[in-house]
Parts: sequence; C-alpha cells; structure tokens
Amino acid sequence: MIDVLRWSTSVVTALAHGATKVYAAETPDAARTLAAGLLMRPLLAGERESRRIPGFDLGNSPGEFIPGVMAGREVVTTTTNGTQALRAARSASMTLVAGFVNLSATADALAAARAPVVLLCAGQAGDEAIEDSCCAGALLKALGAQPDGEAAERALALWREQGRDAARAVTAAPHGQSLIRAGFAVDLLAAASVDRWRLTPRLGA
Ligand code: MLT
Repeated sequence: MIDVLRWSTSVVTALAHGATKVYAAETPDAARTLAAGLLMRPLLAGERESRRIPGFDLGNSPGEFIPGVMAGREVVTTTTNGTQALRAARSASMTLVAGFVNLSATADALAAARAPVVLLCAGQAGDEAIEDSCCAGALLKALGAQPDGEAAERALALWREQGRDAARAVTAAPHGQSLIRAGFAVDLLAAASVDRWRLTPRLGA
C-alpha cells in the first residue's frame, strides 16, 4: 500500500525512529477509542485537510516523528486517504506500507515473497495521486516486473515522464502543491528521500 504524501512516509519514519507499533484507524473517533483501549497511552497522530486533528499529539508530517518523541511509543494514526486505503488491503496474505523512503527494501521484500503482488495506491479522495502512481512505477521497475494491465503501464509511463525523479514527482503532484501552500514544503523533501530507510512495515505484524 502506497501513500507517499504522507502516511507511508510518516509510518516508516516513526518506526525507523523507535516507535514500537503504528495503528491505523479510519476516523478520529475510532483512533481515540483505539487509543483508550491500549495498556500504555499511545501517541495520537493524524490529519484532516492536512492539519493536525484537534486534541491529537501530532499531525502527519514525517518531521514530527522524531526519535525523542517516538522511542518506545505506540502511535495511533488516522489520515484522510492512507489509513482508509488499508481497508482495501485487509484480505491480502501480507500487506506492506511503501513509499519512496523504503523503495528498495519493499522491492526486496516483495521479490522474496515469490507471490503475486498488487500495488495499491492510496490516491487522493478516490482519484489517482501521481506521486503514488510514480512510486508504483518505481517499484515495478525495481522488481523488473512486466506491466500487467493498463494501471501498471500508466504507473511506469508516469514515472518515466517525471524523469524517474521522486522530488520532481512529489512537487508536480497536486497534493504536493497543496501541502506547499499549507506550509508543509519540508514534508515533500522527506517523502522524496529515496531509500532513506531499510524498513518494510507490515500490516498486522
Ligand atoms: C492521507 O492519508 O490522505 C495523507 O497522508 C494526507 C496528508 O498529506 O497528510
């Protein structure tokens, strides 16, 4: 499951910086309920319209998920698209959270699984998000996979059109532009840091 801007990037960053587990909830209320049921108080993180949800500890900027905050903590997240997209992936035998930040690690894990792979792009409000499609194209390329269908061909074509450049893809993306307008330009840099981490967060692990 790919949500480059920004959930996947934030989840990978949180775990890389010492978070012990990241939960995904569909709504802010569901996140609060989930958090209240955990033994140790987790951090609540998430956004609506890109901004931190009132009463939550953190928003959805990768830069907020720093070692001093994450170490040893569980994090309950809810976001507009990323945590929703996970619903569609529930029946898979294994679901990985992927972005540019863990591209090669994801490709290696998928290759090692030796099973059919579906690249699920979170997108934006039910529409395509080109940063996610570009990341899917980059994964297909890294896997050396033959495109299987129109969507895969489009992902590869989009990635080629963006010069196979993650920074260009996230900046060209409408969601990237709206994050810049909202004051989150630095998040695009984090999201475009290809292979920053060798981590493959797994649903249910
Ligand atoms: C989402 O899940 O929709 C994104 O992570 C939104 C965002 O940029 O925070």
